[in-house]
Amino acid sequence: MKRDILLHPDPRLKKVCAPVADLSDELRRLADDMLETMYDAPGIGLAAPQVGVLSRLIVLDCVKEEGAAPRPTVMFNPEVLAVSEKTNVYEEGCLSIPEQFGEVTRPAEVEVAWIDREGRAQTAGFDGLWATCVQHEIDHLNGKLFIDHLKPLRRQMITRKMVKLKRERARA
Ligand code: NI
Repeated sequence: MKRDILLHPDPRLKKVCAPVADLSDELRRLADDMLETMYDAPGIGLAAPQVGVLSRLIVLDCVKEEGAAPRPTVMFNPEVLAVSEKTNVYEEGCLSIPEQFGEVTRPAEVEVAWIDREGRAQTAGFDGLWATCVQHEIDHLNGKLFIDHLKPLRRQMITRKMVKLKRERARA
């Protein structure tokens, strides 16, 4: 079932999310709903607070090649274990900040630990778009948006545009 994606500015997008204690069927269903919502958007990552649930859960799939098999990835309690010194700049966007983009510098490679959909502990290294995306989504769990990495003026400009967009949508 698709869920509604919260739009910035929203106080729920600024909260530090709580760790997931037990993998219930309800949480698995939430993860499946988030994947469906993400693919439908379409996007390459989504964090639970973006659908109004303040739990440490993200989903992502950064496979972009035409015809390549999808790689739906569910991470409960994701944690960055190590980052490279080498950085990468990507033009990032966010499903909670539609049509706004900005260049963000992040470590080019990260090692991440998480609990998968089946409750197994996993560790893996990510690079390229996957590294950027997983860091962007984990930021969400700490109440941080990609615009928080931008210069204040740019951030304020995007936020003003979003306030206007939300007002227009509320009227429609
Ligand atoms: Ni985002």
